[in-house]
Formats: sequence, C-alpha cells, structure tokens
Amino acid sequence: MTRDVVRKARLSGERTEDIESLLSSMEADRNIASSDVLVDIAHLLMLTRQKIVGETHAKTLMRELLAMYESGIPADAFDPSFEDIHAGIETILTRKTGGDVAGRLHIGRSRNDEVATCLRIRSRDIVLDQLDAISRLREVLLDVASNHVTSVMPGFTHLQHAQPVTLGHYLLAYEQIFSRDFYRLFDCLHRINWSPLGSAALASTGYPLDREFTAELLGFDGYMENSMDGVSSRDFAEEVLACDTMLMTHVSRMCEEFIIWSSSFVRFVTLDDRYCSTSSIMPQKKNPDVAEIIRSRSGTLLGSFVSAITIIKGLPMSYNRDLQDLNPHLWRGIMEVRRDIDVIAGMIATAEYNLERMEEEAGKAGTTTTELADTLVREFNIPFRTAHHIVGRAVREGALDLMTLDKASKEFHGKTLSSLGLTQEKIDSALSVQSSLLARSLPGGPAPDTVRASLGTRIEKLAKDRELVQDKRAKISASLQELFQQARRIAKL
Ligand code: ARG
Repeated sequence: MTRDVVRKARLSGERTEDIESLLSSMEADRNIASSDVLVDIAHLLMLTRQKIVGETHAKTLMRELLAMYESGIPADAFDPSFEDIHAGIETILTRKTGGDVAGRLHIGRSRNDEVATCLRIRSRDIVLDQLDAISRLREVLLDVASNHVTSVMPGFTHLQHAQPVTLGHYLLAYEQIFSRDFYRLFDCLHRINWSPLGSAALASTGYPLDREFTAELLGFDGYMENSMDGVSSRDFAEEVLACDTMLMTHVSRMCEEFIIWSSSFVRFVTLDDRYCSTSSIMPQKKNPDVAEIIRSRSGTLLGSFVSAITIIKGLPMSYNRDLQDLNPHLWRGIMEVRRDIDVIAGMIATAEYNLERMEEEAGKAGTTTTELADTLVREFNIPFRTAHHIVGRAVREGALDLMTLDKASKEFHGKTLSSLGLTQEKIDSALSVQSSLLARSLPGGPAPDTVRASLGTRIEKLAKDRELVQDKRAKISASLQELFQQARRIAKL
C-alpha cells in the first residue's frame, strides 16, 4: 500500500521499484527541500491572512513547518517511494497533525507551481553565491595584476610569440572577461526572481489568493503574470546554464594557459603544491590536476545546458512531467560553479610567477619587430606596408642590422634607410622590449601607466558590482525576516 498522500485514493496497484525510481524526483529534490518549506510557510501565511485557513489549524501547521525549517526536515520525508519532496513533506505533516489539519496546506496550490517556485528560490541563491565568487576571482586578478604592472612577458597570437605585454596587462584581460560574465549572470536574476505561486496546476485557482503577498514574503520581484507560463517555463534555468557554460569556458581557457605555463618547457609559473598531484609511479611528477579538472568542467556545463534545453524543446503548454527530468541537469550544471571559481582564484593567488623566464621570452622571436617597422613609418614617412616588407625581409635573412635592412629597403623602397638617417642605435632602441611597451600607451594597451590607470577604474567597478549583489541579498533577507516574524506570530511562538 502506498504511503504517499497524493497517490493514495486515485490510483491502485503496487508500483515496482523500477517504476517508483523512474517517477521519483527525490534525489534532485534534496536541493529544493528547504526552499519547499519556505514556500509552504509563505503559502500558509497567505491562506491564513485571506481567512481561507483558520487560526487554530494555521498555528498547528506553522509550528511543524518552523520546526522543520529550523531543525531539519525528517529523513522520512526523503523516502524514494514518494514521487517528490512535496509529497514527502505533506505526508510527514499529515502524520504529525492529522489529515484535517495538514490537508488544508495544499488549498489553491499544485505541485506544479510549488516546484517552479522552489527551483527559482534555489537558483537565485546559487547565482548570488556564484556572483560573489566571481567578485573574489576578479579581486585576485586585480591584486596580482597590481604587483606586475611592469613585469614584461611575451604576448602570443596563435600561441606564437607576438608582442611584449606585461603580466599585469594579461591578468586584466581575464578580469574584463569575468566582469562580463558577472553582468550576464546578474542579469539572469531579473528573469529568475518572479513567483509562479498562485498559478496552481496551470489555470490558477478560484480561491481568493494574494499572489503579491506570497511573492513579497519570498523575496521575489513580483509574481508571474500568466499561470500557464508560471508552471511550465524554465527559461531561467536555460539562461543560468548558458551563462555558467560561458563563464566556465572562460575559466577553462585560463586553466589551459596555466597548465601550459607550468610545463617544464615554459616555466612561467610554479603552482602551489596544494593545487597539484603527483604520479603513483613517476616520483618526479608535479601535475596541475586542479587546473585540469576545472578545465574540463565547461564540458559538464555545456552537457547540462544541452540536456536542459533539449528537454524543453517540443513540450506543449503547460506543465509536463518532462520538466522534472530537467532538474538534475540544472543542479549538476550549476551546483559546483561557486566552488570551482573559488578554487581557481586560490590557485592564481598562490602561484609563483617566474618573472625572469617571462622577461627572457619577452623579446624573443621578433616580438619587437612591429615597433621597428613603426619606427620606419614614424621617422622616415615610409608607408607601413613597405616598412613591413623591409623588416620582414630582414627577418627572413636572419639579421636585423643596418646592412640587411638597407639591402631590403633598396629593394622595396628604392633607397637605403641609412641614407634617410637610420642608425644601428635607433634600430637597437626600437627593438628593445621597453620601447615597444612604452609606445603602446593607448587606452587598453600594455604600457605600465595605462595599466595602472586601468587598474584604478577596475577596482572601483568591482566595488560597485559587489554592492549590486549586496543590495539584492539585503532585499531578499529582509523579506525572509518578515516571513519568519509573521510565521512565529501565527505559530504563537
Ligand atoms: N516533482 C515534480 C517536478 O519536479 C512536480 C510534480 C508535478 N507532478 C505532476 N504530476 N503534475 O516537476
């Protein structure tokens, strides 16, 4: 005999364990269990205020709900023979207070609007935690960058030496990327934070519910205008998964770079031991396993996103049970992102940057030849393409000296550069890493003063972004405080 209050009367027959486990969302529902109690409390407060449930019943129920929230939901509620946590909690409440009391909690409500509300509450909390983690990562990048405004390194394109930059400039590039990830994710909150409660199964309900009241108590920005949309839309989940996929893809790029940088033939960075593993057979090994695992996480995220969006494709209006099958993908995707970001921030903060090696490579493989060509343009009014040909030919000849440049210049420009006033001294100065760096002082460039200025504005921006999250959190916690105050009043505690 089924112990599930929902199935009890309507359905007959014992389900096999296979059917039970296929239908039950209990495992994934562990993530929304405490949100479910919050939703119950808000709904009960509203039913009482609207005089749909009497004060005596409300008091008994509210005491049980508050006890569940404070001391934890009893393990029995998670029995996998229940279809979901909503059935589990209602069954426990029925056991404790009897059907005449507990049976009133579900007035004007369906598990369809209930679960949609829980998912939004939990996703909102997870996104807020992720936003804080991104801010911590940005802070680390800014911190390390500020110590390395003058630490030269080669910049790469195609992973080939390209032009000199600084470590500070490089780290600020990632900080910019993560600030965009921050805004994208923050923006999701504007779509997540709407309450489906009151949509009931799909067509709302005939009871005089106060949807605005429950939305406010639960810290939502408002309620969803259309009840069918309310129970069946999961675009907030698609959106968070998409944004987290992008975020982790960017983290993955950075991990890849640190893996390359820590290899014995690059040696730009030495990772702290706690972020590394060794080999069970090769005693010399120190492997960047943390960066590797986090590099792979973007794959898990993309998989979760694709699963979720594909489950939604083709679903007719409104609720369909397929939606339950989306939830594990949502949690699998977004649950560990906060941790991943914090771990990678720690790895970057504790890494030792081998400045000598970076400097050694900064001027190698012709990284400053662009500046030599630019010098020819600036000083002798030669068209850039011609200067590019002259220097390119000298590179091909393997010598960037006056004689070779003169020969090339004769071929491409008709006259020698020395006749125009070029000296070996000027060549050497143009080819120095410092002049290449100092010349690139446009906003966004690697010149130390430019990077310093940029650091200043980025630090201010980060502080403002942190306030955005704090304000959201403050608003939500004020609502929940109000919810608990009212709940204790009803419970006469
Ligand atoms: N556990 C379900 C979910 O996560 C809610 C149950 C709705 N069940 C139903 N038969 N309408 O989506």
